[in-house]
Amino acid sequence: MIITAQQHILQQQQAYFPEAEGTFSWLLSGITLAAKMIQGKIRQAALLDVLGAAGAVNVQGEAQQKLDVYANQALLHCLGLRDSVAILVSEENEEPVTFDRAPETGKYVVVFDPLDGSSNIDVNVSVGTIFSIYRRQTDHRDKVHANVLQKGVQQVASGYVVYGASTILVYTAGRGVFAFTLDPEVGAFVLSHENLKMPSQGPYYSVNEAQSAGFPSEYQQFIANMRSGLFGRSYNSRYVGSLVADFHRTMLKGGVFMYPSTKAYPTGKLRLLYEANPLAFIAEQAGGMAVDGHQRILDIQPTDIHQRTPLVLGSRVEVEEFQKCCLPVEAVVQAR
Ligand code: AHG
Ligand code: MN
Ligand code: MN
Repeated sequence: MIITAQQHILQQQQAYFPEAEGTFSWLLSGITLAAKMIQGKIRQAALLDVLGAAGAVNVQGEAQQKLDVYANQALLHCLGLRDSVAILVSEENEEPVTFDRAPETGKYVVVFDPLDGSSNIDVNVSVGTIFSIYRRQTDHRDKVHANVLQKGVQQVASGYVVYGASTILVYTAGRGVFAFTLDPEVGAFVLSHENLKMPSQGPYYSVNEAQSAGFPSEYQQFIANMRSGLFGRSYNSRYVGSLVADFHRTMLKGGVFMYPSTKAYPTGKLRLLYEANPLAFIAEQAGGMAVDGHQRILDIQPTDIHQRTPLVLGSRVEVEEFQKCCLPVEAVVQAR
């Protein structure tokens, strides 16, 4: 007996969010619809004119890929039609998109990375979509940023879609992590992993080693410790270059993903709102951790919608060992 994402979300909602009267599940159906549209384009990309650069540069200063633009338009369209949406923030839009809906109707803020791993689109490597959902805090029509710059701990739900060998939607609403695999015959996301838990220690570490000369010393030390077997096991290196793919492997197999500050990205490359926070929420719900080298990712108070952060994300053992490398030496002695 199959359980679709819609059925699951309605069950969760009846159990935990009775006041939501279906608005939350209707909102999430906007994301699953957009994900089906995006995966349709990805599956036949080379046959369509959706590969390569779109000829524009986005707010990040990065060349927009055609599929970035398509994915962004699909999400803006599908979510914009949900009248429970008050504000949308996208990696591809400099400013938030607001909807003139009364506060009692427009209850949610959605932030998203419409297509993650753009550099991999043209070479048929897994890419993804990442999203976070917040409650609107005030009347959004005059305090847009106050409603968008919420700490990650305020997330109502978050999730990602990985467009890989299968198309898998992974989400949490604060009561465990659930994964749904798109069944092309049914045309629906069907529950495939219930209450996903991340292994407490993993076989992999995942970092762009080509940039390691510019890593801060605590990362150098941590990587050396893993290589030397200090944590009681050997490690293999895996790095896809799509955050969603690297994280999904970490969720299932365990280990740690790192994107430190580098010469090119002194505050880290990954964005807090629509890359680090959503995945940090899922990691913690699955028994893992997510830090920036000084604090929990979910505790960071955002100051800009596109701000970047260093990110260390994954199994509890590795992230705790990384944190020991970040403490002053005397504190590490006490911590052991
Ligand atoms: P996006 O395609 O949304 O800009 O994200 C790309 C990010 C992330 O997916 C990945 O982990 C990282 O870029 C890879 O960066 P490097 O190529 O610098 O390693
Ligand atoms: Mn991204
Ligand atoms: Mn992106």
